[in-house]
Amino acid sequence: MTEVSGEDLRPRFATRAVHAGNIPDPLAGAVMMPIYQTSTYVQEGLGRHKGYEYARTQNPTRQALERNVAALEGGRHGFAFASGLAALDAVMKLLSSGDHVVAGENVYGGTHRQMTQIWARMGLRFTFVDPSDPQRIADAVTPATRMVFVETPTNPLMRLCDLAAAGDIAKRAQALLVVDNTFATPCFQRPIESGADIVLHSTTKYLNGHSDMVGGLLVVERSDVAERLGFIQNAAGAVPGPFDCWLALRGTKTLALRMRQHDASGRRIAQWLEQRAGVERVYYPGLPSHPQHTLACRQMSGFGGMVSIELGRAERARRMVERTRIFALAESLGGVESLVGHPASMTHASVPREMREAMGLTDRLVRLSIGVEDVEDLIADLERALAAV
Ligand SMILES: Cc1ncc(COP(=O)(O)O)c(C=O)c1O
Repeated sequence: MTEVSGEDLRPRFATRAVHAGNIPDPLAGAVMMPIYQTSTYVQEGLGRHKGYEYARTQNPTRQALERNVAALEGGRHGFAFASGLAALDAVMKLLSSGDHVVAGENVYGGTHRQMTQIWARMGLRFTFVDPSDPQRIADAVTPATRMVFVETPTNPLMRLCDLAAAGDIAKRAQALLVVDNTFATPCFQRPIESGADIVLHSTTKYLNGHSDMVGGLLVVERSDVAERLGFIQNAAGAVPGPFDCWLALRGTKTLALRMRQHDASGRRIAQWLEQRAGVERVYYPGLPSHPQHTLACRQMSGFGGMVSIELGRAERARRMVERTRIFALAESLGGVESLVGHPASMTHASVPREMREAMGLTDRLVRLSIGVEDVEDLIADLERALAAV
């Protein structure tokens, strides 16, 4: 089980991002963590080895990534998985048939699909609530509740959950608080400091930041939960390959730099869109017009590069996502390149239409992942696309 060291936690964020978990290679002194592309390790004798027996259980490249992200989140243990949804799968395996979960209604579509179409069939029970009102979380808790699962900000409506309030509710219910921190990243929000037990990441997104791998990661503070997750990681076996771990680890080194630019451009574009005629609504927690802007300023140190907009008619939204040139029409988010998407027919197509409409995720919604290109070029691209619809 991977554990951060005191050394990993001593420096500030950007220094941790570059150094935590990276140890000079003992063979040649390579400054960068090598890709340990091996399935097994030679043993000097029966039961005598260097701490590595089989690569599903331990891999040095994977451990470096796990330590790095755990240090960034300010947690104690990290567990890497083959995707964000594989990380979710491991979290759900902490529960038993009959256990109840209170989950945010606005979670990523694939998270909702796994909960309702896999875990509900296995006997877990779910209540989906609007987590922007902590009272709704509290009201949904039953004696069988073992987990509260939230995303903040949510994908794609950018609603926030008050993490300290959710942490108090979970603690009172003796339930685990699990927070998907994929959108904010530890650069801008550290849920463990607000009482979360487990932080979940799709490393596919900002942590890797270059759209060239798929991965997931869990960060845990409590050692009993970590013991169990370590067991599940090895016993279920959904681990990432060493090359993907290496790519993610290379990505996290520049996380602080990249997030600064995503945030600066996100703010600028959100403000511009708010003034642009024909854009009915802009969803971005950094805008004073966001209904939870005060909470955003309290629990986040930046707002990032995810901006959603509502256009007057569904047809305009569908046309707009096909008219941009720099913003590529694609699933996913968090890379250096800008992406545009239509959540109702892409990332959230697996959420039933009635549920989508009820929470405000309409066919008129367009989601932007603002990359690190020159912001003037991005604005010009959006202007051209909006003018054409
Ligand atoms: C917020 C969020 N969580 C989890 C996931 C799932 O991650 P992955 O695609 O790496 O399985 C995604 C994917 O888009 C996401 O946006």
